[in-house]
Amino acid sequence: MAPDRVHFFDTTLRDGEQSPGCSMTQHEKLQISHSLADLGVDILEAGFAISSDGDFAAIDAIAREVRGPVIASLARSKSGDIERAAQALKRAHRSRIHIFLASSDLHLEYKLKMSREEALDQAARSVALARTLVDEVEFSPEDSTRTDQEFLCRIVAVAIEAGATVINLPDTVGYAVPGDYAAMFRMIRERVPGAGNVILSAHTHDDLGLAVANALAAIEAGARQVECTINGIGERAGNAALEEIAAALHVRADYFPVEHGLRLDHLYSVSQLLGRTISFSPSPNKAIVGSNAFAHEAGIHQHGVLSNPLTYEIMTPASVGVPSNRMVLGKHSGRHALRSRLVALGYHLAPEDLDIAYRAFTELADRKKAIYDQDLINLVAHHQRHEDLINDETVSKPN
Ligand code: KIV
Ligand code: ZN
Repeated sequence: MAPDRVHFFDTTLRDGEQSPGCSMTQHEKLQISHSLADLGVDILEAGFAISSDGDFAAIDAIAREVRGPVIASLARSKSGDIERAAQALKRAHRSRIHIFLASSDLHLEYKLKMSREEALDQAARSVALARTLVDEVEFSPEDSTRTDQEFLCRIVAVAIEAGATVINLPDTVGYAVPGDYAAMFRMIRERVPGAGNVILSAHTHDDLGLAVANALAAIEAGARQVECTINGIGERAGNAALEEIAAALHVRADYFPVEHGLRLDHLYSVSQLLGRTISFSPSPNKAIVGSNAFAHEAGIHQHGVLSNPLTYEIMTPASVGVPSNRMVLGKHSGRHALRSRLVALGYHLAPEDLDIAYRAFTELADRKKAIYDQDLINLVAHHQRHEDLINDETVSKPN
């Protein structure tokens, strides 16, 4: 039997853009959308059409231009929102309206001032309307993870009956832990009639640093769509990072018997593009796409990676599009790493010269946090000038 496919729903341009420092112009959104389409995302949430004229125009432009992914717009469960979303999506090759309506008592009482019965009625009417306007309808009971389970089952059943094709169970405030998030998906599959005929989706936030773990737990429990953003940008601590979920499915294909349509070797370039577009890049130690994700400084690690990258790397940098692993030279680095970097720079030192160079290098490394190529070139040049390291037979300068 063919493995199930997990659909990647990218919400960088909607949930991602909703966070401080992340707003993008229409031109930038189009550029990122094309990269996301090349990456192979299945669904691209292009914005929240009713929220502003700018969002409407960006969704409209993306729907006209971008081919490959289903194009989605967010909408509240109100007819005005749904009609506006449908209008923005008119030119899409395939369109989806993503309706959300809070389902936890906390949100119903304090935010919406709505009873549970009113919420059920609104869910049914909004999904039925959207069904007449676009190809696919997704329904999200907002704050699912803090919603009474009996009521969650009822509202999901109502949405499915009204025609929802995807049911998303958002962990809106990043409250879930993997075990209970997975249990919620199993419960919905067991208790809701028709749940087996729709795609169940995970949408996770990183307030406890568990967004990716929760998304993976949901996949294990049967979710076949994950909602995520490039570099994990998003509300507060962010959304689940697309590149981390994708890499986990790739590296641990033995554990997750699922397929997906992403071209992983595009991950790094999309991440870089987003970092250049918004006002910040991922932190250096960010998994997969951070500048240190494939860097090794400790001598033992460097020696291991030079002998066989598998010693300290669980995926190749090339597999996720990172140009090559970067050995960061610092005070913990050994001779092997220094020699390898000097060779890459075109310097082939005899063993005794390498010893002298290594001593000079460790003295420098005690003073400086990281040693860059230019430092090494200066170091070799300095010793060449003083003729105490290298003679013309043993060193050939880079061209
Ligand atoms: O976090 C959330 O609940 C959302 C919904 C709109 C799906 O982003
Ligand atoms: Zn969200």
